[in-house]
Amino acid sequence: MSRPRALIAGNWKMNGRLAEATALAAAVAAGARAGGPELLVCPPFPMLAAVKGVLGAAPVSLGAQDCHAKPAGAHTGDVSAEMLGDVGCRYVIVGHSERRADHGEGDAAVRAKAEAGMRAGLVPIVCVGETLAERDAGAALAIVAAQLAGSIPAAATAATLVVAYEPVWAIGTGRTPTAAQVAEIHAKIRADLVARFADGPAFRVLYGGSVKAANAAELLSVANVDGALVGGAALKADEFLAIAAAAPKGN
Ligand code: 13P
Repeated sequence: MSRPRALIAGNWKMNGRLAEATALAAAVAAGARAGGPELLVCPPFPMLAAVKGVLGAAPVSLGAQDCHAKPAGAHTGDVSAEMLGDVGCRYVIVGHSERRADHGEGDAAVRAKAEAGMRAGLVPIVCVGETLAERDAGAALAIVAAQLAGSIPAAATAATLVVAYEPVWAIGTGRTPTAAQVAEIHAKIRADLVARFADGPAFRVLYGGSVKAANAAELLSVANVDGALVGGAALKADEFLAIAAAAPKGN
């Protein structure tokens, strides 16, 4: 079976001001090439509409970094998936480890947000990943499997949801797992998706955590790695585009 088309996603996190966001988006758009992997940028909420305007018809998708589970209502400070769709988002990241840690989001909350994204016609990117203590305790596979089981809605399909494996200890640290460690977790994620969903083989499973141009080719060539979720290196257009260029061809 051929690999799904790779997705190279930039999670800008809480970085940049409006001028920097639009300049970064313009540079990514200028360097985007049709026929390569799918490119996605996920700016902070206040920049979404402006970034969408800058992207125009370039082959770069727009995503957000979180959403509320409900479509509307008395939820001060929150943003619904429907609102994100209105401003041009196609994707929404849910369950990032920084939200799980900073905002106490557990698997049920993440699943509700993923369902909200799907309800609004967005593709949720559901993040899972173990801490260093969990890895050192030999629990990485079990933790990821439990997060996957608890966070992915039953109605998900390969076309409507993306999974991202982000080991917490690799995020923003410059440390990456070995190719063998990535392969082990991604194989487990694939097996669980295949066991649960008829189109399990076609789900895109991204790797995230200290991806940069220098290690992208190795990480993206690992079996069952269908793209990358990039943090710090996505804040530089050249670096982000170089990561995209490192994606294996023909998928
Ligand atoms: P870094 O690429 O900065 O390690 O961040 C990864 C990440 O958390 C992407 O969502």
